[in-house]
Amino acid sequence: MNFELTEQQQMLQQSVREFAEKELLPGVIERDEKSEFPVEAFKELGKRGWLGLPFPKELGGSEGGYMGYVLAVEEISKVDASMGISFSVATSLCAGGINNFATEEQKKKYIPRILSGESFGSFGLTEPNAGSDAGGVRTVAVKQGDHYVINGSKCFITNGPLSDIFLIIALTDPEKGQKGLSAFIVEKDFPGFRVGKIENKMGIRAAQVSELFFEDMIVPAENLLGGVEEQGFKAAMKALDGGRIGVAAQGLGIAEGAFEIARKYMMERIQFGKPIAKQQYLAFKMAELEVEIEQAKYILYRAALEKDAGRPYTIPAAKAKLVCTNAAMHVTTECVQLLGGNGYMKDYHVERMMRDAKITQIYEGTNEIQKLVISGGIFR
Ligand code: CAA
Repeated sequence: MNFELTEQQQMLQQSVREFAEKELLPGVIERDEKSEFPVEAFKELGKRGWLGLPFPKELGGSEGGYMGYVLAVEEISKVDASMGISFSVATSLCAGGINNFATEEQKKKYIPRILSGESFGSFGLTEPNAGSDAGGVRTVAVKQGDHYVINGSKCFITNGPLSDIFLIIALTDPEKGQKGLSAFIVEKDFPGFRVGKIENKMGIRAAQVSELFFEDMIVPAENLLGGVEEQGFKAAMKALDGGRIGVAAQGLGIAEGAFEIARKYMMERIQFGKPIAKQQYLAFKMAELEVEIEQAKYILYRAALEKDAGRPYTIPAAKAKLVCTNAAMHVTTECVQLLGGNGYMKDYHVERMMRDAKITQIYEGTNEIQKLVISGGIFR
């Protein structure tokens, strides 16, 4: 397997890095404090073709593959993990989830709007009683003539208050449980759609996450994903396979961002008459963290390459999500420690990165769920 980045991928990496440092770094601390999302910067990701990296030109994509997409999410997340998850959810969970199963008309109608940055996209699977047990969805869709009437609610929906387009999982046959789930493309203007409470979170505070309520919501029958009922669970699982690679890239970016701050700090911070980088115990700690980051990177890039090659990637995605997000949590925690008292202060960024890292071990399937998926592959 070749991990050499092409010249095009290196240029993409450089452009996204410059954008993140110039457009996202200023104000990132204030946005975290106020829970404010930089909508215009997100739209810029669309204008530059980055939201559309893994999609074909005919859908408004820029054909950079999943590998290009991973590099972009990684670079963004080094600086602003809230933007990283907003990007990942729009591109891989919403647009990707639609693309996997939609009819040609549905693809053409919705995907270009998300990729251009004109419309935010969200993915609605989780409910109060359907977290790790994704098949526990209670939202119900009843067909009435040329439309469905949907009643229920979703929680923890990333981009919820900002999105125009939602991929929603609901029961069309409650008797069948998980097998009776179907997927719908929902627009925020559909009658009966309402955004609920906007969450006040520990980390990724600039990302907008909310409840959604459907109260006799009218959804045209043509918005049933793929025009086929009862493929909702598979549609959700497949969307999550792609999404988990995005979260892994977010985790890796957070780890790398914190590591770089610690590296620079350690060369400048003088204690006992020399830079703390010269203290062997601390330098060895950085050696361990660098190896951890590199291992995670290879597992992640492998998952992206498997997807780009059209091979099965459920298990590689779960491994990447597990390893990269654990690295994010461990590396950021160590970096706060390496910066000492300064690490605990907001001005130095690493405390925010540590808070941001925590959710990456939880969303898009907890890391315990990733182990379930990986062990399922071992004992197949
Ligand atoms: N791709 C396609 N089909 C899949 C699949 C996949 N990756 N995984 C499972 N399936 C299919 C199976 O083949 C099976 O099909 P058949 O019935 O035809 O045989 C069916 O789905 C059921 O599979 P399982 O028996 O394996 O399902 P399960 O009930 O044991 O659950 C699970 C599996 C892995 C635990 C799943 O429930 C799961 O992933 N849970 C975690 C949910 C999750 O990740 N939530 C994240 C919310 S979204 C979010 O966080 C977004 C955000 O805003 C940031």
